[in-house]
Amino acid sequence: MNILFIGDIVGASGRAAVKKHLPALKQRYDIDFVIANGENAAHGKGITPRIYQELITSGIDCITLGNHAYSKSEILPIKDQADRLVFPVNLLPVSEMSQTKVFRVKNKSIAVTNLMTQVFMENVSQSPFDVMDQILGSVKADIHVIDLHGEATSEKIAFAYQYKNDLGAVFGTHTHVQTADERIIDGCAFISDAGMTGPYESIIGRDIEEVLMRITQKKATKYTIAESDAVFCAVFVRFDENHRADCIERIQIRP
Ligand SMILES: [Fe+2]
Ligand SMILES: [Fe+2]
Repeated sequence: MNILFIGDIVGASGRAAVKKHLPALKQRYDIDFVIANGENAAHGKGITPRIYQELITSGIDCITLGNHAYSKSEILPIKDQADRLVFPVNLLPVSEMSQTKVFRVKNKSIAVTNLMTQVFMENVSQSPFDVMDQILGSVKADIHVIDLHGEATSEKIAFAYQYKNDLGAVFGTHTHVQTADERIIDGCAFISDAGMTGPYESIIGRDIEEVLMRITQKKATKYTIAESDAVFCAVFVRFDENHRADCIERIQIRP
């Protein structure tokens, strides 16, 4: 089983990069299942029904989210039809959308859970460790993949060590900066952050001047997404016949 995980897709240029690079990557790595973090897909914050459909049509099988999961309320009316959209399980307030989803791929089951971390995340979520313990008691699948969404690398590494025997892969997201620590921990693929698929000339996706003004002059700003061509960041993982990861490769294609 070959899985591709695409890091946070930001805005129009990120979506364009998916269309540009995904078909060739699927072929090159013989990909069976594509997961992408789409929390910033709609102009940097959240996702809309139209963009959800656009990403699925682009070849993505499952879209995970994060702290911006509910930033575009338009997504809520279609939550039941959006069966490939995975909301964070521990983002407060926890709702009926907050659940793991299980997908059938090549006669195997792949569970996908979107979990938030807590360090530097402004108290918006329950403990990912407590919630993971509960999920493991109820979710059964051949391969269980986690999008672990948060700031602190140490917390993500600790999580991977805690659950390496229960999980097939832990992909960090949210910082928009790809880390060079991809590895396999006893059959569990891990990276602290998969990186961003969004405007390369930017400050983690946002307009550079606007962010500088906010930092240096403490001025309130809008949330303008930079317009440059996108970097494409993803991680490839291969699973053996025992459903354990035996190969991980970090992908970064700059414009
Ligand atoms: Fe993000
Ligand atoms: Fe985020």
